[in-house]
Amino acid sequence: MKNIITSASLLSCDLGNIAGEVRRCESAGVDWIHFDVMDGRFVEQITYGSPVLKCIKKTTSMPLDVHLMVEDPTKQIDLFADAGADIITIHAESGCDVPLCLEKIHERGLKASVAIKPATPAERALDFMEQCDMILVMTVEPGYGGQGFMADMMPKVEKIRRYADEHGCSIDIQVDGGINSETAKTAIAAGANVLVAGTSLFKAKNMRELNAALKG
Ligand code: DX5
Ligand code: ZN
Repeated sequence: MKNIITSASLLSCDLGNIAGEVRRCESAGVDWIHFDVMDGRFVEQITYGSPVLKCIKKTTSMPLDVHLMVEDPTKQIDLFADAGADIITIHAESGCDVPLCLEKIHERGLKASVAIKPATPAERALDFMEQCDMILVMTVEPGYGGQGFMADMMPKVEKIRRYADEHGCSIDIQVDGGINSETAKTAIAAGANVLVAGTSLFKAKNMRELNAALKG
Protein backbone atom coordinates (compact mmCIF):
# COMPACT_ATOMS: atom_id res chain seq x y z
CA MET A 1 0.00 0.00 0.00
CA LYS A 2 1.40 3.39 -0.97
CA ASN A 3 1.52 6.39 1.34
CA ILE A 4 -1.49 8.67 1.03
CA ILE A 5 -0.59 12.15 -0.23
CA THR A 6 -2.91 15.16 0.02
CA SER A 7 -2.75 18.02 -2.47
CA ALA A 8 -4.65 21.22 -1.69
CA SER A 9 -6.36 22.83 -4.70
CA LEU A 10 -5.91 26.60 -4.40
CA LEU A 11 -9.02 27.14 -6.52
CA SER A 12 -11.10 27.17 -3.32
CA CYS A 13 -8.72 29.20 -1.16
CA ASP A 14 -8.88 32.91 -0.36
CA LEU A 15 -7.25 34.09 -3.58
CA GLY A 16 -6.62 37.49 -2.06
CA ASN A 17 -4.22 35.86 0.36
CA ILE A 18 -2.62 32.95 -1.47
CA ALA A 19 0.65 33.03 0.49
CA GLY A 20 -1.25 32.89 3.79
CA GLU A 21 -3.41 30.04 2.53
CA VAL A 22 -0.33 28.07 1.44
CA ARG A 23 1.18 28.58 4.91
CA ARG A 24 -2.08 27.35 6.42
CA CYS A 25 -1.83 24.15 4.31
CA GLU A 26 1.78 23.66 5.34
CA SER A 27 1.05 23.93 9.04
CA ALA A 28 -1.99 21.63 8.68
CA GLY A 29 0.27 18.88 7.34
CA VAL A 30 -0.98 18.96 3.72
CA ASP A 31 1.64 17.39 1.44
CA TRP A 32 1.39 19.22 -1.90
CA ILE A 33 -0.12 22.38 -3.39
CA HIS A 34 -2.40 21.73 -6.41
CA PHE A 35 -2.40 24.56 -8.96
CA ASP A 36 -5.29 24.44 -11.45
CA VAL A 37 -4.45 26.23 -14.68
CA MET A 38 -7.49 26.93 -16.90
CA ASP A 39 -7.31 28.75 -20.23
CA GLY A 40 -10.96 29.54 -21.00
CA ARG A 41 -10.78 27.14 -23.95
CA PHE A 42 -10.14 23.59 -22.71
CA VAL A 43 -12.48 24.56 -19.89
CA GLU A 44 -14.71 27.59 -19.49
CA GLN A 45 -12.89 29.45 -16.75
CA ILE A 46 -9.59 31.30 -16.74
CA THR A 47 -7.61 31.01 -13.52
CA TYR A 48 -3.90 31.77 -13.17
CA GLY A 49 -0.63 31.03 -14.92
CA SER A 50 3.10 30.62 -14.37
CA PRO A 51 3.79 34.17 -13.04
CA VAL A 52 1.51 33.42 -10.08
CA LEU A 53 3.16 30.05 -9.47
CA LYS A 54 6.55 31.78 -9.46
CA CYS A 55 5.40 34.04 -6.61
CA ILE A 56 4.04 31.07 -4.65
CA LYS A 57 7.34 29.22 -5.09
CA LYS A 58 9.12 32.02 -3.21
CA THR A 59 6.88 31.51 -0.20
CA THR A 60 7.00 27.73 0.29
CA SER A 61 9.05 24.58 -0.05
CA MET A 62 5.94 22.41 -0.55
CA PRO A 63 5.87 20.43 -3.81
CA LEU A 64 3.89 22.32 -6.47
CA ASP A 65 1.51 20.06 -8.39
CA VAL A 66 0.42 21.82 -11.59
CA HIS A 67 -2.75 20.62 -13.35
CA LEU A 68 -2.83 22.06 -16.87
CA MET A 69 -6.41 22.30 -18.15
CA VAL A 70 -5.35 24.03 -21.34
CA GLU A 71 -5.84 23.25 -25.02
CA ASP A 72 -2.15 23.07 -25.83
CA PRO A 73 0.14 22.52 -22.85
CA THR A 74 3.28 22.18 -25.02
CA LYS A 75 4.51 25.75 -24.62
CA GLN A 76 3.46 25.95 -20.99
CA ILE A 77 5.87 23.23 -19.83
CA ASP A 78 9.04 25.33 -19.86
CA LEU A 79 7.19 28.30 -18.37
CA PHE A 80 5.91 26.26 -15.43
CA ALA A 81 9.23 24.44 -15.01
CA ASP A 82 10.98 27.83 -14.83
CA ALA A 83 8.36 29.04 -12.36
CA GLY A 84 9.12 26.18 -9.96
CA ALA A 85 6.64 23.38 -10.68
CA ASP A 86 7.57 19.97 -9.27
CA ILE A 87 4.87 17.90 -10.99
CA ILE A 88 3.11 18.75 -14.25
CA THR A 89 -0.11 17.06 -15.36
CA ILE A 90 -1.31 17.34 -18.94
CA HIS A 91 -4.67 16.13 -20.24
CA ALA A 92 -4.87 13.16 -22.62
CA GLU A 93 -7.73 15.03 -24.35
CA SER A 94 -5.71 18.21 -24.97
CA GLY A 95 -4.48 18.93 -28.46
CA CYS A 96 -0.85 18.13 -27.66
CA ASP A 97 1.51 15.30 -28.53
CA VAL A 98 1.25 13.56 -25.15
CA PRO A 99 4.44 11.39 -25.31
CA LEU A 100 6.45 14.41 -26.46
CA CYS A 101 5.10 16.58 -23.63
CA LEU A 102 5.81 13.88 -21.03
CA GLU A 103 9.37 13.64 -22.35
CA LYS A 104 9.73 17.40 -22.15
CA ILE A 105 8.53 17.41 -18.55
CA HIS A 106 11.06 14.70 -17.64
CA GLU A 107 13.85 16.53 -19.44
CA ARG A 108 13.21 19.43 -17.09
CA GLY A 109 13.67 17.04 -14.16
CA LEU A 110 10.01 17.14 -13.05
CA LYS A 111 7.45 14.44 -12.41
CA ALA A 112 5.13 13.92 -15.36
CA SER A 113 1.48 12.99 -15.20
CA VAL A 114 -1.46 12.39 -17.55
CA ALA A 115 -5.07 13.25 -16.65
CA ILE A 116 -8.25 11.75 -18.05
CA LYS A 117 -11.68 13.40 -17.99
CA PRO A 118 -14.76 11.46 -16.83
CA ALA A 119 -15.76 10.41 -20.37
CA THR A 120 -12.27 9.17 -21.25
CA PRO A 121 -11.65 5.44 -20.74
CA ALA A 122 -8.85 4.19 -18.49
CA GLU A 123 -7.17 2.58 -21.50
CA ARG A 124 -6.25 6.02 -22.81
CA ALA A 125 -4.10 6.56 -19.71
CA LEU A 126 -2.70 3.01 -19.69
CA ASP A 127 -1.09 3.79 -23.05
CA PHE A 128 1.17 6.28 -21.27
CA MET A 129 1.84 4.38 -18.07
CA GLU A 130 5.46 3.55 -18.90
CA GLN A 131 6.19 7.20 -19.53
CA CYS A 132 4.64 8.89 -16.53
CA ASP A 133 4.96 9.05 -12.76
CA MET A 134 1.30 9.70 -12.03
CA ILE A 135 -2.13 9.27 -13.63
CA LEU A 136 -4.91 11.68 -12.66
CA VAL A 137 -8.43 10.28 -12.83
CA MET A 138 -10.84 13.23 -12.77
CA THR A 139 -13.74 12.58 -10.41
CA VAL A 140 -15.63 15.66 -11.63
CA GLU A 141 -15.88 17.35 -15.01
CA PRO A 142 -12.84 19.69 -15.07
CA GLY A 143 -13.60 23.40 -14.79
CA TYR A 144 -14.96 24.17 -11.35
CA GLY A 145 -14.37 23.43 -7.69
CA GLY A 146 -17.17 22.37 -5.37
CA GLN A 147 -18.79 19.70 -7.54
CA GLY A 148 -20.00 16.27 -6.39
CA PHE A 149 -17.68 13.23 -6.46
CA MET A 150 -18.36 10.81 -9.33
CA ALA A 151 -18.14 7.39 -7.67
CA ASP A 152 -18.62 5.77 -11.07
CA MET A 153 -15.00 6.72 -11.88
CA MET A 154 -13.73 4.16 -9.34
CA PRO A 155 -13.67 1.22 -11.79
CA LYS A 156 -11.17 3.27 -13.83
CA VAL A 157 -8.98 3.76 -10.76
CA GLU A 158 -9.20 0.03 -10.00
CA LYS A 159 -8.29 -0.88 -13.56
CA ILE A 160 -5.26 1.43 -13.61
CA ARG A 161 -4.02 0.18 -10.21
CA ARG A 162 -4.47 -3.46 -11.29
CA TYR A 163 -2.60 -2.85 -14.54
CA ALA A 164 0.22 -1.05 -12.70
CA ASP A 165 0.56 -3.89 -10.18
CA GLU A 166 0.58 -6.50 -12.92
CA HIS A 167 3.33 -4.62 -14.71
CA GLY A 168 5.40 -3.90 -11.59
CA CYS A 169 4.79 -0.17 -11.96
CA SER A 170 4.76 1.88 -8.75
CA ILE A 171 2.79 4.73 -10.29
CA ASP A 172 0.86 7.32 -8.27
CA ILE A 173 -2.87 7.53 -8.97
CA GLN A 174 -4.40 10.91 -8.24
CA VAL A 175 -8.10 11.70 -7.93
CA ASP A 176 -9.40 15.25 -8.27
CA GLY A 177 -12.89 16.58 -7.57
CA GLY A 178 -15.36 16.22 -4.74
CA ILE A 179 -12.86 14.67 -2.32
CA ASN A 180 -13.90 14.84 1.33
CA SER A 181 -13.36 12.55 4.31
CA GLU A 182 -16.01 10.10 3.02
CA THR A 183 -15.17 10.01 -0.69
CA ALA A 184 -11.45 9.81 0.16
CA LYS A 185 -12.08 6.37 1.67
CA THR A 186 -13.81 5.22 -1.52
CA ALA A 187 -10.97 6.52 -3.69
CA ILE A 188 -8.25 4.96 -1.52
CA ALA A 189 -10.08 1.62 -1.49
CA ALA A 190 -10.12 1.71 -5.30
CA GLY A 191 -6.35 2.25 -5.41
CA ALA A 192 -5.82 6.02 -5.46
CA ASN A 193 -2.98 7.38 -3.31
CA VAL A 194 -2.90 11.11 -4.16
CA LEU A 195 -5.99 13.05 -3.13
CA VAL A 196 -6.68 16.55 -4.43
CA ALA A 197 -9.01 18.49 -2.18
CA GLY A 198 -10.13 22.08 -2.57
CA THR A 199 -13.48 22.87 -0.99
CA SER A 200 -13.26 20.29 1.80
CA LEU A 201 -9.83 21.48 2.98
CA PHE A 202 -10.25 25.23 2.66
CA LYS A 203 -13.78 25.33 4.05
CA ALA A 204 -13.01 22.96 6.92
CA LYS A 205 -13.39 24.29 10.48
CA ASN A 206 -10.10 22.60 11.27
CA MET A 207 -7.85 22.00 8.26
CA ARG A 208 -5.41 19.82 10.20
CA GLU A 209 -8.17 17.44 11.30
CA LEU A 210 -9.69 17.31 7.85
CA ASN A 211 -6.30 16.58 6.29
CA ALA A 212 -5.76 13.74 8.77
CA ALA A 213 -9.26 12.40 8.00
CA LEU A 214 -8.50 12.42 4.26
CA LYS A 215 -5.39 10.36 4.86
CA GLY A 216 -7.49 7.82 6.81
C1 DX5 B 1 -11.50 21.01 -11.13
C2 DX5 B 1 -10.13 21.12 -10.54
C3 DX5 B 1 -10.05 20.65 -9.14
C4 DX5 B 1 -10.92 21.37 -8.16
C5 DX5 B 1 -11.23 20.45 -7.02
O1 DX5 B 1 -11.42 21.25 -12.49
O2 DX5 B 1 -9.20 20.35 -11.28
O3 DX5 B 1 -8.70 20.61 -8.68
O4 DX5 B 1 -10.35 22.54 -7.67
O5 DX5 B 1 -12.06 21.13 -6.17
P1 DX5 B 1 -13.01 20.41 -5.12
O6 DX5 B 1 -12.11 19.68 -4.16
O7 DX5 B 1 -13.73 21.55 -4.50
O8 DX5 B 1 -13.90 19.48 -5.87
ZN1 ZN C 1 -7.18 19.99 -10.46
